[in-house]
Amino acid sequence: MPDDGEKAKKDEESEKPKQYEIIEDLPGVGPATAEKLRELGFQTVESLAIATIKELVPAGIGEKQAGKIISEARNTIAITFIRADELIKMRQNVQRLTTGSKAIDELVGGGLETQTITEFYGEYGVGKSILCHQLAVNAHLPEEKGGLNGAALYIDTENTFRPEWIVRMAEPLGIDPKEVAEKIIYCEAYNSDHQILLLEKSDKVIKENNIRLIIVDSLTAHFRSEYLGREMLAERQQRLNSHMHRLVRLARAFNAVAVVTNQVMSKPDAFFALAVEPVGGHVVAHTSHTRMFLRRTASGPVRIVRLVSSPYLPEGERIFKVTNEGIKDVTEEDEVKRRK
Ligand SMILES: Nc1ncnc2c1ncn2[C@@H]1O[C@H](COP(=O)(O)OP(=O)(O)OP(=O)(O)O)[C@@H](O)[C@H]1O
Ligand SMILES: [Mg+2]
Repeated sequence: MPDDGEKAKKDEESEKPKQYEIIEDLPGVGPATAEKLRELGFQTVESLAIATIKELVPAGIGEKQAGKIISEARNTIAITFIRADELIKMRQNVQRLTTGSKAIDELVGGGLETQTITEFYGEYGVGKSILCHQLAVNAHLPEEKGGLNGAALYIDTENTFRPEWIVRMAEPLGIDPKEVAEKIIYCEAYNSDHQILLLEKSDKVIKENNIRLIIVDSLTAHFRSEYLGREMLAERQQRLNSHMHRLVRLARAFNAVAVVTNQVMSKPDAFFALAVEPVGGHVVAHTSHTRMFLRRTASGPVRIVRLVSSPYLPEGERIFKVTNEGIKDVTEEDEVKRRK
């Protein structure tokens, strides 16, 4: 009889979504079977996921075993292969989270979408982390107020999470700061491996706490400082890619909003603010569904947010401001003051 500790460990392992990289990883596929499957043209887990039992039998395996291999392979890539009617059903569940600014919400079609990743990128001090804090507070709001009636998971890689901001933001919204603070699950990632691990282990925490918003602030900082030089670029991109895929799977599975931040390095010769390159390059660009670029203006707290890419919305720009109470719209009053 295994003791309780061992059993708990086992239970935890069996709850983890299994990851099969190569066909040998699948239960029931030994080296000999793998070789035969390859000869039959099944090189990848994905190809097995869409195979039929009859197609696998010539590899010298029974129908029952073939069925098991196929269903295991399907488990890994359940999100990739999905029927359109299921997709429509999933999309019907999409909810939106307010940013605290009507202008930003409008730009993204009514708030940040669940089941997708939204990336905020911009230079140092532009307000990416403040926006993340605001979203964590807003997630707690009831749906009719633009919230998700849920908790937030805050993965902080730069130790910039500030509970004081939560208190300052909650009060004007009529939320008890203590209550919302209980609904923000915070964890600090010490390096990129730790960051990846935290997300890999997060499904239980997400489920148990009704987490509807997953924040990774910053997505790229550790990767940027650890993977230096051109020769490490491919590995960095590959790891970032799988990290982002993990994130989008969690967002879909729990109908959660996923938000990542990304500091951009300004090119020394940049004249226009737009001449900046987000770290992570194409990988992040392709897996983030919505990308928003933040930049400063000459007027202190006012920022410009640009919708750079979205699956279905046109590009556009809006302004908002960073205040003591968080992210707000720029009012006419502000404009009058500014012109004076
Ligand atoms: N009460 C406030 N009113 C207006 N602006 C403020 C206020 N408090 C902080 N700020 C501005 O917000 C900035 C900090 O923003 P934040 O930490 O969100 O930046 P960031 O984009 O996350 O930067 P980094 O890339 O370094 O993480 C400060 O530099 C300051 O300009
Ligand atoms: Mg920050």
